[in-house]
Amino acid sequence: MSNSTGDEQLQKEFPPLKNNLILRACRGEKIERVPIWIMRQAGRYLPEYLSIRSQHSFFDVCRTPSICCEVTLQPLRRFDLDAAIIFSDILVVPQALGMQVDMIAKEGPRFAHPLNVPADIKTSIDRNKKASIELKYVYDAITLTRHTLDGRCPLIGFSGAPWTLMSYMIEGKGSETHAKAKKWLYTYVEDSHDLLQFLTHFIIDYLVEQVCAGAQLLQLFESHCVRDLLSRRQIPHVPLIIFAKDAHYALDELCSSSFDVVGLDWTITRKQIRTLREKYPNITLQGNLDPCALYASQNDLEKMIKQMIEIFGTKNYIANLGHGIYPDANIDNVKYFVDTIHRISKDIIKNETIPKIINSNK
Ligand code: CP3
Repeated sequence: MSNSTGDEQLQKEFPPLKNNLILRACRGEKIERVPIWIMRQAGRYLPEYLSIRSQHSFFDVCRTPSICCEVTLQPLRRFDLDAAIIFSDILVVPQALGMQVDMIAKEGPRFAHPLNVPADIKTSIDRNKKASIELKYVYDAITLTRHTLDGRCPLIGFSGAPWTLMSYMIEGKGSETHAKAKKWLYTYVEDSHDLLQFLTHFIIDYLVEQVCAGAQLLQLFESHCVRDLLSRRQIPHVPLIIFAKDAHYALDELCSSSFDVVGLDWTITRKQIRTLREKYPNITLQGNLDPCALYASQNDLEKMIKQMIEIFGTKNYIANLGHGIYPDANIDNVKYFVDTIHRISKDIIKNETIPKIINSNK
């Protein structure tokens, strides 16, 4: 088992994969067009998602595999996407540990009792909880979705990374500065290390279970726990994507870590992308169209997409937005984005290979 690749092992149980473009891009292999998926591709910009949300709460959708599967597949019915991402949220992990998190309309997630001081950890978090048990509903949703996809494209699993989750558990909601959580790092040094370490182990167990359930790639929102995950040899190797938003100062570290793919947010400049390409030719880059570019005319959008492909190149590249799609995104332009990435990259790759064929005939 240890020497089988992810593709081989999982194909024994699941329908054969018909589109493995994104897996090939992660390995830097030859592709006939650039693969594309969209962060938050299932969500509020789709009327069919809103219709389901009018009948079910956000976390009920996450916890009910049949509904979760339906919502995960909704964007694939509209767009020619090269990957599905399981519908869930990074905050299911603090919930699994015993913290109450609610999704408040028009505001976002709210913790009923955020951690204020280290003593709160004991009362708010149950350290005996097991990721394999508490988050079984996620694994069931992954297995069902992988079967229902019928091999159309790979399924991405994900988790928030330790620092991101610790920050939410302390702040109790999204924060611009993370000041309350950062204060912990400086005042409660040991307790902070301890909490991060605990979360790291829990997250690794969670990601391992997702792969066992059928996830074919993993995206981590921020870093820390990668090497241990890779050393779990009982699971097939699946490509690991890191998306660390606002980490422009840490791109060298991210590219030199054990990740297969580094996601870039939309603030990363063309110059930075060119430098990364030269320094790390074997790292696959993902991104990074400004989500607001989807408000542009299709004429302008095409120019931006062309520029993006020129800078990233077609090899070792996964097209995506530079952050999650906005709820008022123009659906026609989402389709145009996906189709245009495919069309332009296909033409570029075709033109690149023509001279080689002529040469080999001589
Ligand atoms: O990409 C996907 O389609 C998979 C689903 C997914 C969601 N959240 C669904 C969601 C993923 C990968 C996430 C990740 C996530 N969640 C992050 C990291 C990435 C990022 O966006 O920075 C964070 C920080 C969260 C926590 C979270 N969940 C926030 C801050 C919010 C409120 C902001 C918002 O967009 O409303 C959520 C809510 C949320 N998560 C929604 C969806 C579809 C909208 C809620 C709804 O339907 O009512």
